[in-house]
Amino acid sequence: MSLYRPLCIGKLSLPGNLFLAPVAGYTDRAFRSICVEQGADFTYTELVSSEALVRGGVKTQSLFRRADNESRYCIQLFGSDPDVMYRATAMLTPQRPDLVDINCGCPVPKVVKTGSGAALTRDPERLARIVEAVVHASQEHLDNTPVSVKIRSGWDAQAINYRESASAAVAAGASIVALHARTRDQGYEGKSNWAHIADLASHVSVPVVGSGDLFAPQDAVAMLEQTACAAVMFARGALGNPFIFAETRSLLLTGSYEVPCLQDRIAVAFRQLALLASDVGEKSACLEMRKQFCAYTHGMTSAAELRSQLVHADTIDAYRALFPSLPAMLR
Ligand SMILES: Cc1cc2nc3c(=O)[nH]c(=O)nc-3n(C[C@H](O)[C@H](O)[C@H](O)COP(=O)(O)O)c2cc1C
Repeated sequence: MSLYRPLCIGKLSLPGNLFLAPVAGYTDRAFRSICVEQGADFTYTELVSSEALVRGGVKTQSLFRRADNESRYCIQLFGSDPDVMYRATAMLTPQRPDLVDINCGCPVPKVVKTGSGAALTRDPERLARIVEAVVHASQEHLDNTPVSVKIRSGWDAQAINYRESASAAVAAGASIVALHARTRDQGYEGKSNWAHIADLASHVSVPVVGSGDLFAPQDAVAMLEQTACAAVMFARGALGNPFIFAETRSLLLTGSYEVPCLQDRIAVAFRQLALLASDVGEKSACLEMRKQFCAYTHGMTSAAELRSQLVHADTIDAYRALFPSLPAMLR
């Protein structure tokens, strides 16, 4: 069987197994739309606070609006109170998400100290009650949309407990588990331990999505081969590089892939900038896109100089002025 393959999660059918991971501050509506255009089979919003949602934060709502071309997507929630998570899930009804994911991996102290994110992996009983609450809300308000969890390997090297966390979630009704194979202690540093993904894939009855150190198409092929996970999730490897989806699919299906030329990459960056500007306004979009433009221009001969100028670009015209050789129609 090909390593690139469709995937069923409860009532959700996905055409392929190359996902865009949730990445706070990056996987907004504009970027998800670009990733879909570039071949992502499934996309996740960044983590959304269940507390903020039930308090009625308008800004929170903007975090999970579906993009126009996003025919399937997942909304990720975080929280530590099953009742609040139930109510937050019920509030997603107008968006009709195709999957609701529960964040059990965020390492940030502000999140962890409330008992949310990675703290949930230290308390599998609470994790299970939260999954039950979200599944219940989904049955009552979302027409039984499947529910997933995204966990880490454990809290630290002394507390590797991904099996326990995943089993608790599955017993409580989760239909898929994503594993970022680092501990909370590691944050995003050091190597992820793919042996944990392989072990979990053979241990649980639901599909496992692998996450960690996917920076090139070859990494995804290696993860699929070495771990037998059902799907892979690109995170940092996709930032400023949404081309990684089509490249990986091509590598999996044909054994080779082509890298888009610089001009095509930059044209996509300008499209992302335009989409973001229509969502959040030109000024905010220009600020937000600075970090991603640097990644899009990776490999340019004058990249360092360009970066120093990008940090001053606060209008779309200012961005354009930095790329004088780009044909106007491509921007
Ligand atoms: C800046 C940043 C923000 C992230 N935000 C989230 C998030 O909102 N929810 C989540 O589940 N994981 C989040 N992650 C974790 C990623 O989804 C992914 O699991 C992790 O980066 C490992 O993959 P990588 O090594 O290929 O980047 C974030 C990672 C980074 C670097």
